[in-house]
Amino acid sequence: MADHTEHAEQDRDIVSPQADPDDRAAEGALRPRWLADFVGQERVREQLSLVLHSAQRRGRAPDHVLMSGPPGLGKTTLAMIIAAELGAPLRITSGPAIERSGDLAAVLSTLHEGEVLFLDEIHRMARPAEEMLYVAMEDYRVDVVVGKGPGATAIPLEIAPFTLVGATTRAGLLPAPLRDRFGFVAHMDFYRADELERIVRRSAELLGAKLDDDAAAEIAGRSRGTPRIANRLLRRVRDYAEVRADGRLTLATARAALELYEVDEQGLDRLDRAVLHALLRRFRGGPVGLSTLAVSVGEEPETVEVVAEPFLVRSGFVARTPRGRVATPEAWRHMGIEPPLDAAFGAAAALAEQPGATPPGPENGGP
Ligand SMILES: Nc1ncnc2c1ncn2[C@@H]1O[C@H](COP(=O)(O)OP(=O)(O)O)[C@@H](O)[C@H]1O
Ligand SMILES: [Mg+2]
Repeated sequence: MADHTEHAEQDRDIVSPQADPDDRAAEGALRPRWLADFVGQERVREQLSLVLHSAQRRGRAPDHVLMSGPPGLGKTTLAMIIAAELGAPLRITSGPAIERSGDLAAVLSTLHEGEVLFLDEIHRMARPAEEMLYVAMEDYRVDVVVGKGPGATAIPLEIAPFTLVGATTRAGLLPAPLRDRFGFVAHMDFYRADELERIVRRSAELLGAKLDDDAAAEIAGRSRGTPRIANRLLRRVRDYAEVRADGRLTLATARAALELYEVDEQGLDRLDRAVLHALLRRFRGGPVGLSTLAVSVGEEPETVEVVAEPFLVRSGFVARTPRGRVATPEAWRHMGIEPPLDAAFGAAAALAEQPGATPPGPENGGP
């Protein structure tokens, strides 16, 4: 079983929204530097542009900004853009690096006026540091505790006005008093296919790769709404084109490369397809419990629930119902399997039990 899981995670790299070391090396060159180069997320971009430019006109540090959304959608990129647009230096740290309030005090007390402090994964910061952060955000002050026990005293220390940019994949985990101290909250959404296409074409240009328009559309369509995945697939297709073809990224090359990496037309990888296949073939479309489904593909229930299911649900192939997981008509169609008559009824009945349980599809943005 452990073997299987490890194997699945290796296979997984290709459509994982998390950055691997390879991505980190490649992403630097592909990051847009200015708001104007940042593709998509129109609302966020416009709101942010207002926040930044009005602050500049008043000659003051802008409101603190919180960015929330799934990995790979451009939070770190936006943090860097904020500093660039303000012409301000950027300091980067992350929640896990702040284990004690002293770690935060050390960062805050050395900030320069107007500096942008990027706190990635802010929901993972140590609890005692949170309170220190509230005060710093509101009053530009840090209370440094000197001494121990009953004799300990807090010495207020003034710090330079700064702008905090927080990023989180789990906005729900932030305590309300922390969330409330951000003047601007940007919710990042998955990207539309045409936006991903623009991102892929821009990246190809930066990489010096010749990319046909239909190949760009093909890569975009398999990228799960996520720029990081789009850029990764592009690099794989480029490698393939260089080694197996004449270097030009055509539709045929893109399809052949992505087939080799087992990323299908909808961005499903091998594990996703194995789960769908078992759900359709062995359980006639469900409903089936998560652990039964997991056993049948030789995975831990967690792997199926955390790694495969969210995207299957978001893309409208699987619905979660009180009686278990159920395949939607789109799943049968996508896998090219003819549904038995009673399977369609089973799915409809299970869905009917829970009004509002319509599977979120690409058209309504998913969960
Ligand atoms: N709107 C965008 N336009 C162009 N490229 C983007 C955009 N959003 C993200 N990217 C690219 O996707 C990759 C991942 O973005 P990143 O900011 O690191 O995501 P996050 O911090 O949300 O996980 C980067 O290489 C970046 O260049
Ligand atoms: Mg990031």
